Amino acid sequence: MPDDYIGLISGTSMDGIDSVLATIADDAFELRETHVHAYPAELRDALRSLIAKPDACGLDRLGALDRWVGECFRDAALALIEKSGISAADIVAIGSHGQTLRHQPDGLRPFSLQVGDPTTIAAGTAITTVADFRRADIVAGGQGAPLVPPFHEWLFRAPGKHRVVLNLGGIANVTVLPGDAAPITGFDTGPGNTLLDAWIGARRSLQYDENGQWAAAGSVADDLLDALVNDEYFKAPPPKSTGFEHFNLEWLSGFGVDKHDPCDVQATLSELTAISVAAAIERYAPATRETYVCGGGVHNHDLMQRLRRRLSKSAVESTQAVGLDPDWVEAAAFAWLAMRTIRKKTGNLPSVTGASHKVILGAIHYAS
Ligand SMILES: Nc1ncnc2c1ncn2[C@@H]1O[C@H](COP(=O)(O)OP(=O)(O)O)[C@@H](O)[C@H]1O
Ligand SMILES: [Mg+2]
Repeated sequence: MPDDYIGLISGTSMDGIDSVLATIADDAFELRETHVHAYPAELRDALRSLIAKPDACGLDRLGALDRWVGECFRDAALALIEKSGISAADIVAIGSHGQTLRHQPDGLRPFSLQVGDPTTIAAGTAITTVADFRRADIVAGGQGAPLVPPFHEWLFRAPGKHRVVLNLGGIANVTVLPGDAAPITGFDTGPGNTLLDAWIGARRSLQYDENGQWAAAGSVADDLLDALVNDEYFKAPPPKSTGFEHFNLEWLSGFGVDKHDPCDVQATLSELTAISVAAAIERYAPATRETYVCGGGVHNHDLMQRLRRRLSKSAVESTQAVGLDPDWVEAAAFAWLAMRTIRKKTGNLPSVTGASHKVILGAIHYAS
């Protein structure tokens, strides 16, 4: 029996809350409606500064931000429902990823902290809301990330075809879908758009490099690229995951970037994303012949060109080629993960996250 679910996520780029309403059947997924809900600039700035300087935040501020993000996610769901013309009563559940403030999957007491109070979403929409998807995997010894690979497996895996799904969000992550019985793997390869956004933001006060035009106008600084690719993260074997905590302007400033033409730095950062993704695929999925790209980076022509050049053994196309609009894959995954939770089915892939076993993800918040 097909059921309607909503998926909500705001990624590390904070460019908006991606919202989808989908009908999910046993073997089919249909996008019914989509919506992007922007954060108020004041909230986005507050979240960005909190992520950049976590120690500067008091508990009162944190608690209030959790509610405020929850209100925005609630409003995103309400706007989506209104646009769709579907009655809230017909929607089984909302899967809300929330906004990650801190992701520390290693260390003595690993955790991943998302805000966006799910009770506010459930009460405001009158729809059961599943949230806090990462906790159970982390408690089971996993990275709590990436969580989208089981959805990629369900939707995109095909016998005989060695595929990779590449999500170019703030961080880039791959899902390796072998065409044979080999286990699925998936991990964060490193920066996706985050350094590109941060650099053009710092130098030209722009949110992002439209179509990668600025990067395309520069030349790669080979010495800088060599230094950047030497970072330990790229060398570490999976399972692994990363975030803003590691790849940020401060990290970049450690490489003497100011010596270079800013436009050449942008080109070098674009090449860094491409080279780190390609190296990861070549090392951990050498049989790959089809790479399907989703996330905002798919719109960056310069980055896509660099990827095609580096991934010479694989076709590189958008996930549209396999049936799902690349802008909605992540939000769609959280609608699907909510379905798994509601049906008491496990949602993580231990071969991806490193967890000791499969677990049911998320906490269920009933509307009443
Ligand atoms: N037309 C475009 N040209 C270049 N980059 C783009 C374009 N559209 C989106 N992006 C990039 O995609 C990012 C958003 O990607 P997204 O998948 O939403 O990331 P996240 O999951 O981190 O929110 C933007 O910050 C920007 O860097
Ligand atoms: Mg986004």
